Amino acid sequence: MYRTETCGELRIADVDKVVTLAGWVQRARKMGGMVFVDLRDRYGVTQLVFSEDSNAELCERASKLGREYVVRVTGKVSERQSKNANIPTGDIEIIVEEMVVLNEAETPPFTIENNTDGGDDLRMKYRYLDLRRECVRENLELRHRMTMEVRRYLDARGFIEVETPMLIGSTPEGARDFVVPSRMNPGQFYALPQSPQLFKQLLMVSGFDRYFQIVKCFRDEDLRADRQPEFTQIDCEMSFVEQEDVISIFEGMAKHLFKEIRGVEINEPFKRITWHDAMKLYGSDKPDIRFGMEFVELMDIMKGHGFPVFDAAEYVGGICAKGAATYTRKQLDALTDFVRRPQIGAKGMVYARVEADGNVKSSVDKFYSQEVLQQMKAAFGAEPGDLILILSGEDTMKTRKQLCELRLEVAQQLGLRDKNKFACLWVVDFPLFEWSEEEGRFMAMHHPFTSPKPEDIPLLDTDMGAVRANAYDMVINGVEVGGGSIRIYDSALQNKMFELLGFTPERAQQQFGWLLNAFKYGAPPHGGLAYGLDRWVSLFAGLDSIRDCIAFPKNNSGRDTMIDAPSVLEPAQLDELSIAIDIKK
Ligand code: AMO
Repeated sequence: MYRTETCGELRIADVDKVVTLAGWVQRARKMGGMVFVDLRDRYGVTQLVFSEDSNAELCERASKLGREYVVRVTGKVSERQSKNANIPTGDIEIIVEEMVVLNEAETPPFTIENNTDGGDDLRMKYRYLDLRRECVRENLELRHRMTMEVRRYLDARGFIEVETPMLIGSTPEGARDFVVPSRMNPGQFYALPQSPQLFKQLLMVSGFDRYFQIVKCFRDEDLRADRQPEFTQIDCEMSFVEQEDVISIFEGMAKHLFKEIRGVEINEPFKRITWHDAMKLYGSDKPDIRFGMEFVELMDIMKGHGFPVFDAAEYVGGICAKGAATYTRKQLDALTDFVRRPQIGAKGMVYARVEADGNVKSSVDKFYSQEVLQQMKAAFGAEPGDLILILSGEDTMKTRKQLCELRLEVAQQLGLRDKNKFACLWVVDFPLFEWSEEEGRFMAMHHPFTSPKPEDIPLLDTDMGAVRANAYDMVINGVEVGGGSIRIYDSALQNKMFELLGFTPERAQQQFGWLLNAFKYGAPPHGGLAYGLDRWVSLFAGLDSIRDCIAFPKNNSGRDTMIDAPSVLEPAQLDELSIAIDIKK
């Protein structure tokens, strides 16, 4: 037998028990005639003691143990003289009587400890060693517990898990596809699914009624802290539902996860905001509402007083940071530099402090009378000690996005983005279409299968940009953790959508003929949602990047440095696939 107990479970009540443990040597240290070894496994760390007096040969062998050696020991549990309150097994130690080295180990390239000396790249290259670290392992354990709770919640409500194919066809719209060549069909390619969207809709046509799948999805997008090229969705679909039914089930699931995983009871309904208001008040379709600082528009108050920058602007608006009038000139200059960064693109920033006597002192005082500044103060409801920051620009949407970045940065600096505080929000009434400058046409904002609000259907022919969708996103702490919609189930309306998106009937038939056909055979009204599992786990674990809750993630260039993928193929393999490589400079 390799072990009778794990390294995490022995306590003072086990004293005098003879046990066998197996694990990795975290470290071994010699002190006088004794050797102390920290033995680690997935469950914890237990101190082993070898003493020269009781067994000199064994003690000598123990002194030679290297880091990460795999050993099995048998010995008696004993009460520790100097207890370690930091670990659950800290009251006891094992007086070792027998030891077998099961495997030796080379010195690892970084220390296997929470505070490791290994940098990002090194840890990714040796990810299997990184996963031995408690803090990384805990993230995967949390992920496991969350998927168990998701399955429990959905199963109890009649959802069944159905697997959909990974080798499917490439579709336009959405992100770029990852494609896979087909040897048996030379010159043809499969695509890996960006989501199981169309298959789950077909399952509704098949009568499955309540479907879910915890499923890998693939998108060839630019990577960020909350984006991986392969990620996992909790993908769901329901028949005979309206938006409220879907929101109710998945808000329930969110509350279930908060309660079971974080011990947080949320009794009140989640807040809701329309997309339009979210853009107006926060400049973002995923606002962080852990704190206020909503935008206040100042066009009426601040334009027409001779300040050329504001006078020329289409949008003038700002935020009020409570109690931040203590910001120094240096801090304000740094914020100005922040909004001027090319990624943000503002030209400058105006600031105003509300002084103790209620007067407003601004960086543009020479253009504004105290009276106008007082009107501005009133628009924010600002009080003595507050700091007002204002941006302006020629394009309302762009300027709001810049102000959004400023709002988040200031909140970060003021410590308002507390990772242990959660603010959940439904963003509803998304536009059905968004204009793409790149393509010079309207694109589906969510996907082409999302239904318009019935009352907006007449606008399809007159004002596409104003049509609202039956689409909703869940946002927590400024992170989009999920999104979904009520789908079109009528083939005539679906055909119309394709037409509006610029598909010829032939192309729509060629790309989506199978779906349009299926809709001819009795498609029920249906809708659903997909949560991003990686984002949920990182939110609950307080991580800065979803990478840390994925066992084997890709780096920012989409590479797995451990297995060195992607990689070139042998000529013979390419030949078999009828593929010739022509790398453009
Ligand atoms: P959507 O594209 O909004 O909807 O995706 C759903 C959720 O998946 C997560 N997500 C990602 N997570 C990590 N890395 C990525 N690259 C990534 N992309 C998306 C987000 C997002 O909210 N088929 C629809 C859902 C539906 O309509 O039912 C869909 O895929 O948390």
